[in-house]
Amino acid sequence: MIEPQTSSEKALSEKSLPEAALSEIDAGVAGLAVSLRGVTKVYDSGVLALGPLDLEVRRGEFVSLLGPSGCGKSTALRLIAGLNAPTSGTVGVSNRAGETRAGRSIGFVFQEPTLMPWASVRENVRLPLKLAHVALAEGSARVGEALTQVGLAEFAEAFPRQLSGGMKMRVSLARALVTDPDILLMDEPFAALDEITRFRLNNDLLSLWRNLRKTVVFVTHSVFESVYLSQRVIVMTPRPGRIKAEFRIDAAEPRDEDFRTSADYAGYCRMVSNALAPWQSGQPGS
Ligand SMILES: Nc1ncnc2c1ncn2[C@@H]1O[C@H](COP(=O)(O)OP(=O)(O)OP(=O)(O)O)[C@@H](O)[C@H]1O
Ligand SMILES: [Mg+2]
Repeated sequence: MIEPQTSSEKALSEKSLPEAALSEIDAGVAGLAVSLRGVTKVYDSGVLALGPLDLEVRRGEFVSLLGPSGCGKSTALRLIAGLNAPTSGTVGVSNRAGETRAGRSIGFVFQEPTLMPWASVRENVRLPLKLAHVALAEGSARVGEALTQVGLAEFAEAFPRQLSGGMKMRVSLARALVTDPDILLMDEPFAALDEITRFRLNNDLLSLWRNLRKTVVFVTHSVFESVYLSQRVIVMTPRPGRIKAEFRIDAAEPRDEDFRTSADYAGYCRMVSNALAPWQSGQPGS
């Protein structure tokens, strides 16, 4: 475990977790959006993928998960989304209204945009509303709003084959936003994009986060991306994934190109890189 280097990191690393697992209701009261307590995941194959993992994310916080390939980052997101159940431990998810069922009020953005190729941008974004039986008129307004939020209002009638990679990812983001979720789970959403597009999407994501006040849990392999975007970066150990180190990124808002080229930014990146260093020459999935 690397030594925390600033007082806020020290405070964070010394923060003791309550003895008893928080119930989902407690998580809501405490202002937490996500609370994982002693969570493990063993797949049917017998692979112990995760944990035990203790993770809290405050409502409105932007947190990144970083770690070697195969350490359980996607598994952790799927557990938070309620797509998989933990083998042991508790997963608490709480939204603004205090409803506390895992999977409620969550938008998921995957690495691949996974759009329906035969459907227009509008129909792709409408899909979650259709599945939730939202009335057409209300749905149309929400689709229009989500497309405006990601800067694609003019492309509503286009088909995925007519879009660039970055635009497809924007559609995927609009589809996650259309239900107005409290929590956005993002699994390496920009990994396949070129650097310029990625920087732009990073900036757009930050302004969406600031304006919409979502809680974001963001998985990435990029130290630079995690530091640029996050209020807190969590470095995980190799499988089974646990928390190795946490870093609070105390940079002035809004973040911009000045931050990206600052000494503070370079310093944070160095700290996070150091925490990952033991595994940078390791085998994938090891
Ligand atoms: N459905 C599954 N069935 C069996 N094993 C799985 C399943 N999904 C993931 N695993 C295993 O669990 C471990 C963690 O996988 P996971 O996809 O969560 O890792 P990750 O940190 O997201 O990796 P990457 O950075 O490569 O995306 C891996 O060893 C993987 O092989
Ligand atoms: Mg993954």
